[in-house]
Amino acid sequence: MCGIVGYVGHKKAAPILIHGLKRLEYRGYDSAGMVTIDKNGANRFRVVGRVQNLDHAISDIDLKMTCGIAHTRWATHGKPTETNAHPHTDNEGRYYLVHNGIIENHAKLRSQLESEGVEFVSETDTEALVHLISKFHDQSLETAVEKALRHVEGTFGIAVTCIDEPSKIVCGRRGSPIVLGVGMNEMFVASDVSALIQYTDQVIYLEDNEMAVVTPDEYQIRTLDNKPIARETLQIEWTMEDEDLGSFPHYMLKEIFEQPTTVDNAMRGRVVLGEGCSKLGGLQSKIDQIKRLKKIVIVSCGTSYHAGMVGRYIFEQLTDTAVEVELASEFRYRKLRLDETTGVLAISQSGETADTLAAIREARRKGALTIGLVNVVGSTIARETDVGVYCHAGPEIGVASTKIFVSQLVILNLIALLIGRYQSVSLSEGVDLLKAMMELPSQIQQILSRAAQIEDLARRFTKVQSFLFIGRQLHYPVALEGALKLKEISYIHAEGYAAGEMKHGPISLIDADFPTIAIATKDATYEKMISNIQEIRARSGPIIAVATEGDIGIRESADMVMYIPETHDLLQPILSVIPLQLFAYYCALYRGCEIDKPRNLAKSVTVE
Ligand code: G6P
Repeated sequence: MCGIVGYVGHKKAAPILIHGLKRLEYRGYDSAGMVTIDKNGANRFRVVGRVQNLDHAISDIDLKMTCGIAHTRWATHGKPTETNAHPHTDNEGRYYLVHNGIIENHAKLRSQLESEGVEFVSETDTEALVHLISKFHDQSLETAVEKALRHVEGTFGIAVTCIDEPSKIVCGRRGSPIVLGVGMNEMFVASDVSALIQYTDQVIYLEDNEMAVVTPDEYQIRTLDNKPIARETLQIEWTMEDEDLGSFPHYMLKEIFEQPTTVDNAMRGRVVLGEGCSKLGGLQSKIDQIKRLKKIVIVSCGTSYHAGMVGRYIFEQLTDTAVEVELASEFRYRKLRLDETTGVLAISQSGETADTLAAIREARRKGALTIGLVNVVGSTIARETDVGVYCHAGPEIGVASTKIFVSQLVILNLIALLIGRYQSVSLSEGVDLLKAMMELPSQIQQILSRAAQIEDLARRFTKVQSFLFIGRQLHYPVALEGALKLKEISYIHAEGYAAGEMKHGPISLIDADFPTIAIATKDATYEKMISNIQEIRARSGPIIAVATEGDIGIRESADMVMYIPETHDLLQPILSVIPLQLFAYYCALYRGCEIDKPRNLAKSVTVE
């Protein structure tokens, strides 16, 4: 959630730290801070608000130091104030620490340290750790950090510096990602590769319970109990261009418009049309087990959970395997009965979501086969699952997920088809699905070409207080996702509902000021959706329908219509979600909201 950057080398650290923080700001953004050090001491700056405030605060100062650490914060313990912002330091100002995660025993540590005379200045859990490091002050920074970490319960990704060793950063990880970037006589540390890609494509991920000692010319990795680890660098595939806004005003809009390419990337090299089947190299090593699984449980959070809900319908249609979908935060605490006949499929854009990660760890412990559907290559979930499939969608920066949702849906179809072709899906059924998938990029393009109409529509609703989204079957999760998009970025209250549940509650809300978006494409549930729309109309509720192109009749029932092209039933959510993404985007735009960084949200939720 928070972001960490560190630099040690021969260049001035400050601009590199600020650049890195700007790249990470999408992860958390209520306060920011940095410290640069050399043999003469430390310069620390902390501000409330965005990284640009920090940039501003140091703009007139020529910071020459070539080592430093920085942090952008998403508050867990203590309000977003300057005092609570990282880096934190000990009472002598020797050690500086930035931390992601939660130190669960911080209260106990605090009272113990206070009784020993340590003065605390912040309300954070992090401060206890820096005092602890100072208490274990030793010949080397790494020994002090190592000793201190033995007393810590909870999760951490940390970077620590000390003015006595001004060309060294020590970092450590348990539950919160840390990646090292290797340059020429310079090294980088970050919580996310985004902060590094401008400088190097050679990275090393720390695993849980590992630490690294980083100096300009080398890195040493070891376990927290001091066993050396040899690890080669990995080459990362993202480039700076992937992260450029180009001519778009917001990442969210850029990512919505990237979706034709995202779908292409998700399918590239994975379609075997002649066999009506998909080819997914990442599942191959366990394919015999996968095709015989008795049950697949999909676990995920947020938008990835909605993708999982669509996935349930897809798996039901294409495979003979029983399928369930669960919020990872619930699944991880249930009394689970799993064994090797169950596959647990974790869906995650970041590959770092704390609950999803905990869910697959729990599933592995119980003997289930774990499968990852992840975007970020090399992320923890990608590394810890037995097998997996990547989205290959490039970075998603907008906090509200868009392109990854469609990518996940495409890949869920490919996974289900792969399994289904060993079961009862026929060659012609497989070919039909794949042919329809190949049409998707141009169909998405068609929807995007009508963005201006959706913008007009959205502009009319910017003063509305609440919205209802309804759909049936595969469109039920799309209704949830449409509502989530709208509330996340425009702060309009929105609820997604299964249309069949209307009469069990939400219909009582309907009046002329309470609009509904109804997804009513031409499929098996069309007539029932029309009945729901009529019931809303009868109570004066305004209706915007998402409908299949050519369905003129729906204009009699709905006040406004957003059309999408006709496609295979299982692919409809991939198209029906796009007008809803655009609608949310334009509502937020006309309400003057911070679209890419909505309040209180973070792109990657690495704490529970
Ligand atoms: C956060 C993000 C969402 C995302 C969810 C799950 O809430 O803001 O966009 O859907 O986490 O993240 P994941 O990386 O696991 O897909």
